[in-house]
Amino acid sequence: MVPAVTISHIYKNYGRLEALCDVEFSIAQGCFFGLLGPNGAGKSTLINIMAGLARAGQGSINVMGYDVSKQWRQARQVLGIVPQELAYDPFFTVREMLRLQSGYFGNDRTNYPWIDELMERLSLNEKADVNLMRLSGGMKRRVLIAQALVHKPKIIVLDEPTAGVDVELRKVLWEFIRQLHKNGHTILLTTHYLEEAESLCDRIAILDKGRLIALDTTKALLGRYPYRLFHFTLNHTDKDLPDSIKEKVESFSGHELTLRLHRDKDRISHILDALHSANITFSDLKTDDPGLEDVFIALTGNNHV
Ligand SMILES: Nc1ncnc2c1ncn2[C@@H]1O[C@H](COP(=O)(O)OP(=O)(O)O)[C@@H](O)[C@H]1O
Ligand SMILES: [Mg+2]
Repeated sequence: MVPAVTISHIYKNYGRLEALCDVEFSIAQGCFFGLLGPNGAGKSTLINIMAGLARAGQGSINVMGYDVSKQWRQARQVLGIVPQELAYDPFFTVREMLRLQSGYFGNDRTNYPWIDELMERLSLNEKADVNLMRLSGGMKRRVLIAQALVHKPKIIVLDEPTAGVDVELRKVLWEFIRQLHKNGHTILLTTHYLEEAESLCDRIAILDKGRLIALDTTKALLGRYPYRLFHFTLNHTDKDLPDSIKEKVESFSGHELTLRLHRDKDRISHILDALHSANITFSDLKTDDPGLEDVFIALTGNNHV
């Protein structure tokens, strides 16, 4: 089966800035794929190249086997892209805009029931005959999503669809995207919300400064961070920690001590012995498994997500 998306050796420079450098990965059909990376990593640049809004310096992107720069007509039929920036024509109503977009893809009136269904599912019905310029940011975001879906594309690309969106709409959007994935669409999502990437995506690519620094299943990536956090509630606040423990402290204040222990190198029994020898006792102990955020910070060395 041809991959839904094949990205081959993509380079893109803006003047001296290397926005993308030899980026290469593919996305299998039916996958829910997450593209993560700090601000300025190059995620939108990559998606804009896919959308035909920017040109790669070198390399190619294929969608369902069609080269996006050479077979754009076929490629755009299988692609639905929700851009990060809210761009729209203010003089149309929601319904007009969606019908117009549908027409661009060669669909006639027989596609109108699908447009109605999209408006229904994105709770746009009440605003169907309202001009786009009168809509709130969140409502415009919904229109952009509906617009990307009018031609029922196999591949749906969402560039930070939930950035700056309130919690309630975020939930609606995730539920909607989940449903699209269940119905067989391939999803490519970029997001700042790591917990959501963690719960939604099967596979993840991480970009940093234009380079691909990780590409794996979500599960394997989570397994790659070899630390666990141990939260102790101490019985006292006035004791010094032994040196062997000091170097493992993640945080320490009052009764609460958190240690960051290596899955293979640290033995919890040694830690407990060291605490015992220093007459440090505790009333509670909890552990925390790492999340994607920990992996992300370990890989990129920063937390400006
Ligand atoms: N049109 C442009 N002209 C010049 N520099 C750009 C342009 N678009 C993006 N960049 C730069 O390219 C880098 C990648 O940006 P972008 O792809 O938007 O990152 P992300 O979406 O991961 O936040 C950034 O340093 C950004 O400033
Ligand atoms: Mg971006």
